[in-house]
Amino acid sequence: MSYSTRDQQALAEQMQDRLGQLVPSPEIQLKAELVSKINRLKLERNAVILGHNYMEPALYHFVADFTGDSLELCRQAANTDRDIIVFCGVRFMAETAKIINPSKLVLLPSLEAGCSLAASITAADVRALRQQYPGVPVVTYVNTYAEVKAESDICCTSSNAAAVIASLQSDRVIFLPDEYMAKNLARQTGKSVVFPEDHSNKADSIRSLQDTIIGWHGRCEVHEKFTVEDIQNVRKQFPDVVVLAHPECSPEVIEAVDFSGSTAAMIDYVKTHKSPHFLLLTECSMGDNIIAENPEKDILRLCSVRCPHMNQITLEQTLQSLQRLQYEVDLPEDIRLRARGAIDKMLAIQPLR
Ligand code: 13P
Ligand code: SF4
Repeated sequence: MSYSTRDQQALAEQMQDRLGQLVPSPEIQLKAELVSKINRLKLERNAVILGHNYMEPALYHFVADFTGDSLELCRQAANTDRDIIVFCGVRFMAETAKIINPSKLVLLPSLEAGCSLAASITAADVRALRQQYPGVPVVTYVNTYAEVKAESDICCTSSNAAAVIASLQSDRVIFLPDEYMAKNLARQTGKSVVFPEDHSNKADSIRSLQDTIIGWHGRCEVHEKFTVEDIQNVRKQFPDVVVLAHPECSPEVIEAVDFSGSTAAMIDYVKTHKSPHFLLLTECSMGDNIIAENPEKDILRLCSVRCPHMNQITLEQTLQSLQRLQYEVDLPEDIRLRARGAIDKMLAIQPLR
């Protein structure tokens, strides 16, 4: 047996140990071949692979150099000294990496990896909102494209949104584009929430808005599918279940759960809390990734719900990305610089205690 064949066999055994309860054995052999090709090429190309928490388990556990939520991966992209960043996530995340580390070649393994939230708003929409609400600061969720970030005062992610809003010390804030997250933040921070169509042409009522979040009607096509009924059904069957949800879920769902937080906050919660069962209301691969690391935890998930964008990033696409150096993410410099201002302000914010 050659050295590399032995290496690959050892890798397949490690993968079997970790992923055996999630992935059928013949598939593990195939995945081990792809993983070893990717990891070899990654070294040759001096690349770093960043993997979002929603990546499939083999990619997440055996390929990514760093894993995490949007905020953590943004920090890792800023700090890397490798020549190439392969972003195993969706386009807005890869754009964020390019915005903060422009001298690197940033690659996104699929052109199909979009996001329904990012697609819900344009730069022209933000400019129109600024005209409608002069002087009101604009906070943009990181799930947006660079042109939209460039029109914003500051960005936020699901893990720092409340701290970002608090940092503005303004009783009125425009929060874009996630309708549900705006409503959830309003509840959390004791503000009310309105939408632009509620009072177009009513300048007086706009001036009198106090302690208000002005929202937009973008939604995550994955998290909007979860319902209170889903939770009730699972609680009936497993009365001692602890339910966790991402803040992109509806306010009714968030009110019915035990914990809401970013993907990283949910992973930490499951790792550090004891419960006979956890129900995760988020993209299904994340549950798989937690099980692979914590096989003693019983993770329930509603697995009809996959993100069709995150799903595009496979081992095969990641290998091709490194082989062909595709698909390069590039941005016009003026947009990049303005977007960078909004991201830098976010990165300077300390978390709320
Ligand atoms: P996180 O920042 O919590 O990882 O969320 C990103 C995302 O796209 C959730 O749907
Ligand atoms: Fe966008 Fe939702 Fe997919 Fe996250 S899960 S990338 S918010 S569509």
